[in-house]
Amino acid sequence: MKVSTSKLFGFLVFLFFYNCQAFPHYKFVVKEVPYTKLCSTKNILTVNGQFPGPTLYVNKGDTIVVDVYNRGKYNITIHWHGVLQPRNPWSDGPEHITQCAIQPGAKFRQKIIFTTEEGTLWWHAHSTWLRTTVHGALIIYPKTGTSYPFPKPDAEIPIILGDWWKEDIMELYEILERNGDDVQFNSEAFLINGQPGDLCPCSKPETFKLKVNRGSTYLLRIVNSILVDSLFFSVANHTVTVVGSDASYLKPFKTSFIFLPAGQTVDVLLEANQSPNHYYMAASVYSIRDIGDYNNSTTTAIVEYNGNYTPSSPPVFPDLPSHSDTGAGLNFTASLRSLADKEHPVDVPMEINTHLFYTLSINAPCKNHSCPDGKIRTLASVNNISFINPSIDILQAYYCCIHGVYGANFPDFPQLWFDFAAEVYPMDWEIPQLGTEVKMLDYNSTVELVFQGTNLLRGSDHPMHLHGYHFYVVGLGMGNFDKDKDPLMYNLVDPPVQNTIHVPKIGWVAIRFKATNPGVWYMHCHFDHHMVWGMDTVFIVKDGESPEAKMLPPPPDMPPC
Ligand code: C2O
Ligand code: CU
Repeated sequence: MKVSTSKLFGFLVFLFFYNCQAFPHYKFVVKEVPYTKLCSTKNILTVNGQFPGPTLYVNKGDTIVVDVYNRGKYNITIHWHGVLQPRNPWSDGPEHITQCAIQPGAKFRQKIIFTTEEGTLWWHAHSTWLRTTVHGALIIYPKTGTSYPFPKPDAEIPIILGDWWKEDIMELYEILERNGDDVQFNSEAFLINGQPGDLCPCSKPETFKLKVNRGSTYLLRIVNSILVDSLFFSVANHTVTVVGSDASYLKPFKTSFIFLPAGQTVDVLLEANQSPNHYYMAASVYSIRDIGDYNNSTTTAIVEYNGNYTPSSPPVFPDLPSHSDTGAGLNFTASLRSLADKEHPVDVPMEINTHLFYTLSINAPCKNHSCPDGKIRTLASVNNISFINPSIDILQAYYCCIHGVYGANFPDFPQLWFDFAAEVYPMDWEIPQLGTEVKMLDYNSTVELVFQGTNLLRGSDHPMHLHGYHFYVVGLGMGNFDKDKDPLMYNLVDPPVQNTIHVPKIGWVAIRFKATNPGVWYMHCHFDHHMVWGMDTVFIVKDGESPEAKMLPPPPDMPPC
């Protein structure tokens, strides 16, 4: 038998790739570099010197490997927000939960396994407040040979909404952790692709510009990476068509603005169908905090039509909902519907065997009374338990059977039922317990979780995020959840699939998922100050029977605690 050399070579290449599992490799070097914004320069932590960080492009179902080198001066971890990471919590990233931090000078190889995700996600630091500057987009294209469920756009543009802080973010974090009460959560500016926009001082020349051809369609992949705020976003004179959120497609609908809770992504089609001109795209805050307590500035970028014409000066400005327009946000969230067609079937659990009801509360600052741990600071809680970070990560403690790190008694229901929407509460109700309690779930459990926002301390909205899962949002509403009436109104036909959901102030949201991903999975509010105050908990999903239903073993280079 004669084998041609080229065939032999091909076979060897195949063997090499097969054995070494040569996944695409990326190098993330975390380091400080100087950036100038708003007329002043400061050092910020970046990945590869870029802010926002590098965008990664993959196809649905790919696996990639990212080597993270910590050349900065702080401990850090990196999280792949919205990626299921089936059976592989080892690479998920949240500090204290699935790993200890990568220390300065150290390196960690993370394997990111994409499966059902298609659309836009993002990655970010998941320790202290470093995600402020350490984040970037993840673009997940359809599998080769398949296409979008909408006409292919002429171009695709990541739009990363971020924020810029005057203060050193780590100093702010440390004050917050010690004495949460005294920090103002006011960033100096919001950013579109790293730029505040030309309404801000010293920002005109670098304002982000999107040049468009009349008649073309653009896919904007919008990410809210902002630390403590949800946003409204709009393009002047253009309605956009929403086609996806959190890497899952939606029934297309037209809208003049979009609402982006912290952590969420939304994909929209922008048709350049207006008269050639310069139009602002702009974003400003949605907040129920008092005026002066939030950043009320507007960030802008410019949509510029190509061609010969005299543009209006200044560019046309969009209408954005007012900062406190709760209805606008709620209506937007309620408009999201899955495609629910043959190629994108809905698989929402119909028989529920695990009913959970979690209240979300801001708690009294421990000032007039001492906090349970003796410190003076603000707390927040889920079911009245304020989460305390463990000394070593929960995943390691679970896997290696180390006792005393966490408790498995996170309550399924609040210990105290009351009118969650009331104006005033007895002082006692405002004081939470402290604990590191997790909720254990059997493999294949069918879970319904109702988040209930409470009005304690005048409440807040909460963008709740779950790692390791995509969940169906089956219902939402204002006021107290009514366990008899509200489930009758659930959408079990085409509920959207998300990883982050906006729970309105004094409102509720019901989500469902099936516990098919064994591992240790963080759940928390994506407002980072609420997370620091303790509005977080953990699901541990136990292994199932078959080998494919068990957690993978840890990689050899897990960062030591
Ligand atoms: Cu976007 Cu736990 O994170
Ligand atoms: Cu919150």
